Amino acid sequence: MSETIGGEVVPDSTRQLDVDGEVDLMIEDLDLWYGDKQALYGVSLPIAKNSVTSLIGPSGCGKSTLLRMMNRMNDLIPICHYDGKITMGETEITAKDADLVEIRKRIGMVFQRPNPFPKSIYDNVGYGVKLHTKPTREELDAIIEKSLKRAAIWDEVSDRMHDLGTSLSGGQQQRLCIARTIAVEPDIILMDEPCSALDPIATAAIEELILELKKDFTVVIVTHSMSQAARVSDYTGFMYIGRLVEFGETDKIFSDPELELTKRYITGRFG
Ligand SMILES: Nc1ncnc2c1ncn2[C@@H]1O[C@H](COP(=O)(O)OP(=O)(O)OP(=O)(O)O)[C@@H](O)[C@H]1O
Ligand SMILES: [Mg+2]
Repeated sequence: MSETIGGEVVPDSTRQLDVDGEVDLMIEDLDLWYGDKQALYGVSLPIAKNSVTSLIGPSGCGKSTLLRMMNRMNDLIPICHYDGKITMGETEITAKDADLVEIRKRIGMVFQRPNPFPKSIYDNVGYGVKLHTKPTREELDAIIEKSLKRAAIWDEVSDRMHDLGTSLSGGQQQRLCIARTIAVEPDIILMDEPCSALDPIATAAIEELILELKKDFTVVIVTHSMSQAARVSDYTGFMYIGRLVEFGETDKIFSDPELELTKRYITGRFG
């Protein structure tokens, strides 16, 4: 069953849910509304462990909404309500009584605009760690150094740990935000257009970092850049007017998509 919207036949969300290996997060039959306006329609999506999954699609198709559902950030929007189920192993993310602090520790988020706290570089990374555990000073120092190294920014900041995070360049700020996210040892890192405010060199550094990060974490990234999705991701989901219309291995989506709609989008013929 498909619908015609504005003269365009809009396919239903796909039920193609195969991935290799372990599934870290499973989204099933997710419908979501902002007030009475529906933004997601029957979206199901498996997120494979230790892989990069990218979400692509035209502006307003629901990529950020779907990403924000993965750690219940949409709960912060009062008019937002949803149906469907998201699970992470035994944990039901969408359960009414789910522990949102714990969920957001296990599933971290990096935003479009680098948003360091107005605190020192050291405190930016240490803040979340202190919220969840009671490390000694030595333990905290070690976690901060390790996180900054994993985010490939240690060499640039190790001699200025007490400078403000906001004093760094945009690309450095974004890597600092990634260090802040990984310091609490999440399982999954969500990134919403993490390079859109960055120049090509800073973008290349983040892309390289994403490929490193997937060794230890599961990454989900929203991007408007087809070349970025093709370079960094193992799986790609193509969204269209609130539906996840095609999902599969990135190589397949970019070389031989099932839908003409997907082909038109990835070759830049709309959106
Ligand atoms: N806080 C909100 N309140 C009301 N409607 C919203 C809200 N956030 C998103 N929407 C609506 O939900 C739909 C999907 O928006 P979303 O931001 O998820 O799209 P997107 O694919 O991330 O777009 P973009 O590529 O422009 O970032 C849009 O119609 C948008 O107007
Ligand atoms: Mg968005």
